[in-house]
Amino acid sequence: MKPDMSASVSFFLLELLIVIVTINISFCNGSSYVGCIESDRQALLTFKHDLTDRSNRLASWLGDGDCCEWNGVVCNNHTGHVIKLNLQSRWESDADYEAYERSLLVGKINPSLFNLKNLIHLDLNSNKFEGMISPQLGNLTNLQYLDLSNNPELHVENLVWMYGASLLKHLDLSGVDLSRASEWLLNINSLSSLVYLRLSNCQLPPFSRIQIANFSSLTTLDLSDNPFYNSFIPSWVFGLNHLGSLDLSFDYFQGPIPNGLGNLTSLKHLDLSFNFFNSSIPTWLSRFSSLEYLFLGFNNLQGRIPRSFRKLCNLRSICISYVNLSQNMSEILEIFSECVADRLEYLDLSHNHFFGPLTDQLGQFKNLETLDLHENSIIGPIPTSLGKLSSIKDLVFSFNKLNGTLSQNHFANLTRLTSFDVSENLLTLKVNHDWVPPFQLSSLILRSCHVGPHFPAWLRSQKSLSNLDMSNAKISDVIPNWLWKSLSQFTSLNLSHNQIHGEIPHLADQRDIDLLDLSSNKLSGLLPPISFDVNALYLSNNALSGSISQFLCFGMNNSKTTEILNLENNFFSGELPNCWMNWQYLHVLNLMNNEFVGSLPTSIGILSSLQLLILRKNSLSGVIPFVSLENCTNLETLDAAENHFVGYVPTWIGERFSSMKILNLRSNKFHGHLPVELCRLASLQILDLAYNNLSGSIPRCISNFNAMVTVDHSESNGLNYFGNKTGIQFLLHELLVRKGIEYEYSTILNLVRIIDLSKNNFSGEIPREVTSFTALQSLNLSHNSLTGRIPENIGAMGEIESIDFSSNQLSGEIPQSITSLAYLSYLNLSNNNLIGKIPSGTQIQTFDATNFVGNDLCGSPLTKNCTVTIETPEDENGGGKDGNEHEVDWFFVSMAFGFVVGFWGLIGPLIINERW
Ligand SMILES: *[C@@H]1O[C@H](CO)[C@@H](O)[C@H](O)[C@H]1NC(C)=O
Ligand SMILES: *[C@@H]1O[C@H](CO)[C@@H](O)[C@H](O)[C@H]1NC(C)=O
Ligand SMILES: *[C@@H]1O[C@H](CO)[C@@H](O)[C@H](O)[C@H]1NC(C)=O
Ligand SMILES: *[C@@H]1O[C@H](CO)[C@@H](O)[C@H](O)[C@H]1NC(C)=O
Ligand SMILES: *[C@@H]1O[C@H](CO)[C@@H](O)[C@H](O)[C@H]1NC(C)=O
Ligand SMILES: *[C@@H]1O[C@H](CO)[C@@H](O)[C@H](O)[C@H]1NC(C)=O
Ligand SMILES: *[C@@H]1O[C@H](CO)[C@@H](O)[C@H](O)[C@H]1NC(C)=O
Repeated sequence: MKPDMSASVSFFLLELLIVIVTINISFCNGSSYVGCIESDRQALLTFKHDLTDRSNRLASWLGDGDCCEWNGVVCNNHTGHVIKLNLQSRWESDADYEAYERSLLVGKINPSLFNLKNLIHLDLNSNKFEGMISPQLGNLTNLQYLDLSNNPELHVENLVWMYGASLLKHLDLSGVDLSRASEWLLNINSLSSLVYLRLSNCQLPPFSRIQIANFSSLTTLDLSDNPFYNSFIPSWVFGLNHLGSLDLSFDYFQGPIPNGLGNLTSLKHLDLSFNFFNSSIPTWLSRFSSLEYLFLGFNNLQGRIPRSFRKLCNLRSICISYVNLSQNMSEILEIFSECVADRLEYLDLSHNHFFGPLTDQLGQFKNLETLDLHENSIIGPIPTSLGKLSSIKDLVFSFNKLNGTLSQNHFANLTRLTSFDVSENLLTLKVNHDWVPPFQLSSLILRSCHVGPHFPAWLRSQKSLSNLDMSNAKISDVIPNWLWKSLSQFTSLNLSHNQIHGEIPHLADQRDIDLLDLSSNKLSGLLPPISFDVNALYLSNNALSGSISQFLCFGMNNSKTTEILNLENNFFSGELPNCWMNWQYLHVLNLMNNEFVGSLPTSIGILSSLQLLILRKNSLSGVIPFVSLENCTNLETLDAAENHFVGYVPTWIGERFSSMKILNLRSNKFHGHLPVELCRLASLQILDLAYNNLSGSIPRCISNFNAMVTVDHSESNGLNYFGNKTGIQFLLHELLVRKGIEYEYSTILNLVRIIDLSKNNFSGEIPREVTSFTALQSLNLSHNSLTGRIPENIGAMGEIESIDFSSNQLSGEIPQSITSLAYLSYLNLSNNNLIGKIPSGTQIQTFDATNFVGNDLCGSPLTKNCTVTIETPEDENGGGKDGNEHEVDWFFVSMAFGFVVGFWGLIGPLIINERW
C-alpha cells in the first residue's frame, strides 16, 4: 500500500505541478511572463553604457525595467533569455543624412554582450562600433545569425573563435577589416551549417589552400571588393552547388572565367564584374536556367554573346559593359527577344564594339527600364519601335554612329521615360511644333544632335527637367521667355555652341543652379544682374557688351557661390568694378579678350580661392596690385598678357604663389630686374615675360624651376580646374608662341614647358643653369642684350625643340653639343657676334640660312665656306669607326626629329580649346 500510496501522491503532485506549469505558461503567453533575466539585463545595461546613442534609440534600456520589452531586444517567451538583438541602423531613402548619422550607435562592443549566452541572432549592422571584435564572441555558442557589417571602424585579429559559433547559418562581416585574419577561410570552413556568407570589402588576405568547402549548404556567397591580386577563383567555390547568388566583383581575379563555375547551375545572381577575366563569355552559362542577374562588365572579355543565351528565359538584368565584345546589334536583339523580351528590366551593353543597326525587335522589350548602349559603333536610324518600350525610364545611346531622324513616333508610348541621352551621334530630332510628349524628363542630353533651327517648344511641358544639354544642336533662335523664367528648375543647363541670339533678360529671383553654359553663341547686349547663384557661369564667345558693373555689383550684401566665371571673348568694356568682395568663392576668373580698361581694383585680392586669373587681351593699365593679390595663394595661372600694365615684378611673388604653374605677363610694360625670389616658383611650367622693358641679368637661381627638369608624361592632359562645390570642370586654353608662331594649347597643356623672355633689355650671360632644364621645349631669349657664350652644355636640354637667341650680343662659337639635340626643329642664332663653324652632323644643316646671318659664322647652311681651319673628320671624331656610328645615330635622330615636328606642328595646335 505504502508504495502505492506514495506513488499516487507523487502522481498527484506531478499532476499538480503540470497544472501549475501549464497555468504558468498560459500566464506567460498573456501580457506578462517570466520577464527578463537579471543577468541579461545587467549585460545589456553594461553594453549600452559604452555606447554613444545620439538619437536615443536605446531610451527604453533603463534601470530595472523588463529588458524583453526594450527596443531591439527579443526574449525567449518560455525562459526569458535574450535570444535576439536587432540594433541595425537603416537608411530610409527619404531621411536626411544628418538624422541618419545621428541614429548610429558609436563605441566599443562591451564584452558583457558575450554573457548573453542564449543569443541566437545578433545584428549590429551599419553603426559605428569600433575597436577589435573580441574572440569571446565564440562563447555565443547558440548564435545562428551574426551581422556586424558596415561598421567601418571594426576589425578582428583572427576568426579562430568561429569554432565556438559552430551553428552559424548567416554570417555577414562586410566592411569589417579582416586583413589580419590570415586563416579566415580555414576558420569559416568549420561552419558546416552556413547558408549565407558575406565578406564584402573586408580587405581579405589571400585564400588559404582548402580543396573542399565544408559549408556546402551555402546559398549566398559574396566576397566582392577584396584585393585578391593576381589570383584565380579558388576551386572550392565550384563545389558549392546550392549557390543561388555569387558575387565576386571588384576582386582583381584574373585568367579566364573558370569552367568550374559551370557546375553552379542553380545560380540566380552572378556578378563577376570589375575583374581581369580575359576569356570569352562561357557558353555553359546558358545552362543556368534560373539566372536572373548577370553582371560581367568591366573585364577583358572578348568575342560575342553566345547564341545559346536565347535559352535564359529568366533574365531580368544584364550588364556586359566595358568589355571588348564585338557583335552585330541585330543578333543581340534576336538572342534576347527569344524568351526574355518581356521580362528583361535592365540591359547595359555600353562601351563595347557592337556594330550594325538596331532592328524593330527593339520594340519587344516591354518591361525594359534601362537600356544603355553608349560608346559602341551602332549605325543607322533608331527604329520607331522604340516607341513601344512602355516601361523604359533610362535610355542612353550616346557616342554611336546613329543617323536619321527621331520623330514623335519614337516616343509614342514612352510614358515613363525620365532620362534620355542620344548625344554625339548624327541624329536629327524633328517633332511637330505642338507636340506634347507623353513623358516628364529629368535629364535630356542632345549634345551634337540636330535640333534646331528653332528652340523646341515641347520642352516647356517638361516641368521636372533639371539637366539639359542641348549644346551644338544647330539652334539659331532666341531663348524663349518661359525658359528664362523657369531657369531655377535646372541644376545644369548647357546651350553652348549654337547660334542663339538675343539679349539676356534681367533674371529675377530664382533658385541657385550649378551650371549655366551659354558660351559660343550670338548673345548680345548688356549683362544684366543675376539675382541667384550660378556656380559655374559660362558666357564666353558671345557678343555681350558694355560694363559689367551692374552684374558684378548687384546684391552687394549677398556673397555669391560662383566658382567659375568665364566672360572670355565678348565686347565688355569700361573699368573692372571694385565689387569682388562678394565673389570670394571664385576659383576661375576669365576676362580674356574684352575691352576692359583702367586698373585692377584692389578688391580682387579678396579672391583667396582663385586658382586661375586670365586678363589677357584687354586694355588694362596701371600696376597690377600685387599687394592685394598677396592672399590669393592658390593661384596657379596668372595670364595678364597683352595689356598695358606697368611696374615691377614683385619680390614676394615666389613666396605667395608657390603653386604657380603659368605666369604670363607678355606684352606689357613691366620694367626693372627679375627678383631672385621668382626662382621659388618650383612648379612653373610656362614663363612668358616677352615684350616688356625688363632689364638686368637673368638670375642663375632659375635652376630651381623643378617643373622644367622633369615632366610626367602619364599626365598627358590639360590643366583642369574644378569647382569645389560642383566638380564642374574648366579646361584652360593658353596662347603660346613656339617657333615664332602663336598656338593655342589646351588638352596637352600639362606637358608644355616654355620660357620666353624675348624683347626685353636683359643683359649679362645666359645662365648656364638653363641647360639643366631637360624638360624644356622652347627657350626664347631673342632681342635682348645678352653677352658671353652660348652655354657649352646646351646639348643636355634633351626635349628642346625651339631655341631662339637671335638679336643679342652673344659671342664665341656655337657649342658642338647642340648637335645632340634630337628634337630641335627651330634654331635662330641670327644677329649675334658668333664665330666659327656651324656644327654639323644633325638637322642643323637643314635649317634656313637666315637663322645664322648677322654673325661671323661659316659652313652649311650658310654659303660661306670655312676655309681658315680645316680639320679632318678623323681628327674630329677620333677614328673612322666612330664616324660610322655617328652616321647611324644621325639616321635615328632624324627620324625622331621628324616625329616630333609632326606632333607639335600639326597635332599640337589642333588639340585646342575644346571642353569637349
Ligand atoms: C512571444 O510572445 C510574443 C507576445 O505574446 C509573441 O508575439 C511572440 O511571437 C512570441 N515569441 C515566440 C518566440 O514564441
Ligand atoms: C569565453 O571566451 C573566453 C575567451 O575565448 C574563454 O577563455 C572562456 O573560457 C569562455 N567562457 C566560456 C564560459 O565559454
Ligand atoms: C562538376 O560537376 C561534375 C558532375 O556533377 C563533377 O564531376 C565535377 O567534379 C564538378 N566539378 C567541380 C569542380 O566540382
Ligand atoms: C501603347 O501602349 C498601349 C497600351 O499598352 C497599346 O495599346 C498601344 O498599341 C501602344 N502604342 C504603341 C505605338 O506601341
Ligand atoms: C546613315 O548612315 C549609313 C551608313 O552608316 C548611310 O548609308 C545612310 O545613308 C545614312 N542615312 C542618313 C539618313 O544619313
Ligand atoms: C577645395 O576644397 C578642398 C576640400 O574641401 C580644400 O582642401 C581646398 O583647399 C579647396 N580649394 C580651394 C582652392 O578652395
Ligand atoms: C590678407 O590676409 C590677412 C590675414 O587674413 C589680412 O590681414 C590682409 O588684410 C589680407 N590682405 C589683403 C590684401 O586682403
